[in-house]
Amino acid sequence: MDESKKSGESARPAAWSPPEPSALRVGFIGAGRLARALSLALQAAGVPVVRVASRSAASARALAESLPDCRPGDPADVARDCDLVFLTSPDALIAGIARAVPWRPGQAVAHCSGATPVAALRPAAEAGALIGGFHPMQAFGADPGAALASLPGCTVAIEAEPPLDALLHALARRLGCVGLNLPPGARVRYHASGGYASQHVHALLAEAVRLWQSWGATERQALDALLPLLRGTVESLARSGVAAGMPGPVSRGDAGTVRLHRQALQAVDPEMRDLYDRLCRRGVALARQAGRLDAAAAEGVERVLDAPPGP
Ligand SMILES: NC(=O)c1ccc[n+]([C@@H]2O[C@H](COP(=O)([O-])OP(=O)(O)OC[C@H]3O[C@@H](n4cnc5c(N)ncnc54)[C@H](OP(=O)(O)O)[C@@H]3O)[C@@H](O)[C@H]2O)c1
Repeated sequence: MDESKKSGESARPAAWSPPEPSALRVGFIGAGRLARALSLALQAAGVPVVRVASRSAASARALAESLPDCRPGDPADVARDCDLVFLTSPDALIAGIARAVPWRPGQAVAHCSGATPVAALRPAAEAGALIGGFHPMQAFGADPGAALASLPGCTVAIEAEPPLDALLHALARRLGCVGLNLPPGARVRYHASGGYASQHVHALLAEAVRLWQSWGATERQALDALLPLLRGTVESLARSGVAAGMPGPVSRGDAGTVRLHRQALQAVDPEMRDLYDRLCRRGVALARQAGRLDAAAAEGVERVLDAPPGP
């Protein structure tokens, strides 16, 4: 399909000058974890949030009551009364909601999904609204206070045409976030990258917790011991980057310790050992890149990784 049609450009809306952020009437459709954090943060930054709708009236009411001049309603109320509407439903519902709501010229609609194309909002563009994407690269949990505190400093991927792009960047700045324009076609890879800094960290620590549990320790005991290490690792990453500061036996070329690890992990679970092997191979490449391993030391570790994991 023609790229311009995919992004909704063919139905280019009439010129519209969005109000200043402090005069903007913002609404949300979907009153979940992200909407709670974003609406409270916008309101605190002087951007009025005036309408909220959700699947359940109770969620919409609860969010509206936490904001000073906000009323719950249905999605059509939000579209009618707002200059900028954030679609903050689950990703799979964005296109359906965009089709069902009566949008109009003189307003903008942005979804907050990292992987969904902005073209999912095409029905809004066809009705004359500006459309865009506004995805904060952060994990927002159920605790609104913690979610709010985690917003400043995070990157927000913004995808929109003028004048909506400038407005969304201005909102990101007001929230203390860093607006990012992604090159065309990079959106899904950008979103997948976030998994490595969030979801996959959980998956990796789950492996570590299983090891502690193999000698009878609890998850709490494991995390109490491992989280200081993780915090130190995050500090080191921020200071030195991904390759230079990498710790551990692979970066030291300590093939003997890698052999012992493989034997121990194989006894707990061969799949755990297999994941360890794959991560070690990536570690060898990183340590080579950082000049921490010469070719002979790298080969020594790789020979151990190629060998059967037995004693
Ligand atoms: N949470 C994060 O860390 C995060 C980070 C970045 C981006 N995002 C994006 O933000 C969006 C929302 O994610 P979330 O984590 O906030 O999800 P969530 O906590 O599950 O909230 C989704 C909300 O949408 C409402 N909803 C469900 N079906 C609906 C419908 N048909 N019409 C209107 N509202 C409906 C839900 O309804 P009820 O409560 O009324 O039942 C719920 O309040 C997604 O696009 C996600 O990719 C999330």
